[in-house]
Amino acid sequence: MVQVFIKDIPKLQSLDEEVIIKGWLFNKRSSGKIHFLQVRDGTGFIQVIVEKGNVKDNVFQSCNELTLESSIIIEGKAKKDDRAPSGFEMDLTDLKVIQLAHEYPIQKKEHGIEFLLDNRHLWLRSPKQWAIQRIRNTIINSIFEYLNSQGFIKIDSPILTPTACEGTTTLFPVPYIPSWKDEGKGDAIKVFVPNSKTESNDKPFAFLTQSGQLYLEAAIFAHRRVFDFGPTFRAEKSKTRRHLTEFWMMDAEAAFVEHRENMKIQEELTVAIVKNVLDKNTKELEMLKRNIKSLENSAQGKYTIITHKEAIKITNKLGSKVSERDDFGAEDETILPKEFDRPIFIEKYPKEVKAFYMKEDANDKSRVLNDDMLAPEGYGEIIGGSQREDDYDKLLKRIKEEKLPVKDFEWYLDLRKYGSVPHSGFGIGLERYVTWICGLKHIRTTIPFPRMINRLRP
Ligand code: 4AD
Ligand code: MG
Repeated sequence: MVQVFIKDIPKLQSLDEEVIIKGWLFNKRSSGKIHFLQVRDGTGFIQVIVEKGNVKDNVFQSCNELTLESSIIIEGKAKKDDRAPSGFEMDLTDLKVIQLAHEYPIQKKEHGIEFLLDNRHLWLRSPKQWAIQRIRNTIINSIFEYLNSQGFIKIDSPILTPTACEGTTTLFPVPYIPSWKDEGKGDAIKVFVPNSKTESNDKPFAFLTQSGQLYLEAAIFAHRRVFDFGPTFRAEKSKTRRHLTEFWMMDAEAAFVEHRENMKIQEELTVAIVKNVLDKNTKELEMLKRNIKSLENSAQGKYTIITHKEAIKITNKLGSKVSERDDFGAEDETILPKEFDRPIFIEKYPKEVKAFYMKEDANDKSRVLNDDMLAPEGYGEIIGGSQREDDYDKLLKRIKEEKLPVKDFEWYLDLRKYGSVPHSGFGIGLERYVTWICGLKHIRTTIPFPRMINRLRP
């Protein structure tokens, strides 16, 4: 008898042979003479029919006693059934119980979100949660596949860093090894502590990375096109449906790429991701009841580019009070993309609302050559990118204006001394992407174990 994965049942050569499936019971319906077991094995879901008289009495009895989430090995014959989501059902011939589960906490009734998040270790098994992680996996693989095909190589950036990349207000300090000596000079490591009066103090602190971008900028001089992909951290102090304190980011960076081409790469990458999901995750999108119209449009490319100035005007017409030199608020990012049927780019933000490393726009020195990609249907920012300031003096001036510790950026400034070139890059917030593609209301279920202002467990 062969063991099969549920996902491979449609590919079986012959349905006459009995097969073995190892998995878990996730639902059960019974009448006196028949049980309908809903079985999952991690690769898919199948309904298994157990009829009294067709199986040994003790097997039928075991099915009576079977509780939700018990682990089981079943033997049976698959058969075609057009009503079944996978197109197949199974007639059971034998059953072995590996472990009978005790009162599984997540029952068929509706549960509150906090209860489900408290039981995230179990909730991950539910079909919708399963579908979300499968789509997340496709998105991750698509990013690797597309970037590799375009000559980007993966470079791993550090997690423990001495400084901020994206503003000091969301830095996560962690105590660094107390006896650490600074470059043999006998001092404790001196790092910049945000919001402290002095620029540095003697406490051995490091910060969890907010983005690997600055390190990737160093790597382009060796490899031309690079990307990283890893956990990033921001001490987001407010509760929103778009923010996690730990999230996964892909940063890409390329030498000799300017602002327009940077956006082109972001668009092509998004098209590749969406196409892959539509192609590989039809079943999962159905399980999530995702309306795929906007994904189909997004797979066509041709994303509109709007300047920040123009975007402010449109948003004001839609009722927002955002003013000309403001960054967009969460509400603006919700209403503006609703006007479009696929992602849009907003470019050239005022310098003062964006990061120090963005390149000044030669046509309007008060603005920078950056872009945010906003997802349609009100999902808001999913990518942030920019051309980087490649002029030593301008960059130094910006670092000082932002009151960042120049000493910690000396290595970064070096990159503008030794073969500086125009270069650009961008960062994808993976969970924002998953939220959009899956059509979810909140970011919290896009990551296996969400970390938010009010949640660190399980
Ligand atoms: O726009 P951000 O802050 O850009 C950067 O970090 C750049 N250094 C990236 C680069 O150019 N290489 O963050 C990038 C993306 C955002 O567009 C958003 O999708 C996501 O990361 N993001 C978050 N996702 C979840 N929770 C948070 N708290 C996030 N903050 C940003
Ligand atoms: Mg941003």
